[in-house]
Amino acid sequence: MKISDLPKYELSPEEILKIDEIIGRNKNKKGALIPVLHDIQNELGFLPVEAQEKVAKELNIPEKDVYGVATFYSFFSLTPRGKNNIRVCLGTACFVKGGKKIAEKIEREFGIKPEETTADRKYSLQINRCLGACGIGPVVVINDKIFKKVSPEEVMNLIYANER
Ligand code: FES
Repeated sequence: MKISDLPKYELSPEEILKIDEIIGRNKNKKGALIPVLHDIQNELGFLPVEAQEKVAKELNIPEKDVYGVATFYSFFSLTPRGKNNIRVCLGTACFVKGGKKIAEKIEREFGIKPEETTADRKYSLQINRCLGACGIGPVVVINDKIFKKVSPEEVMNLIYANER
């Protein structure tokens, strides 16, 4: 995804204060970027470009480097997540065992693509690389709870039974 494709987001005064505080307590530490991005995501639920720009400026790091880190790690999200975050593993083992069909089923049911959130902000879909549980794949994670040997037929029921 290109920076220009990301939705515009206006940081509230409270969010700006929070970001300043996070940057302030990490500023002179080595390797501050990842902890800063991590804490900001915890506060805001995602990493809007506007927050990344602020981090780049304050930590004196080029914007493209901040964006590079934010997009490299799958635990960072550049778009707002829904109340329920659904992650489908499409690492090699899960893919071979049918993970792709599970992802497609969710995409069809919710009318969203990976990394998108439904219009009512209830569900987000993410695709993960190997989650380290290949033996019990295909694996789906619903709000941090892991489900093993999931089939496309049962995945929607699993989501509804475990949603917030
Ligand atoms: S490929 Fe899915 S857990 Fe390893």
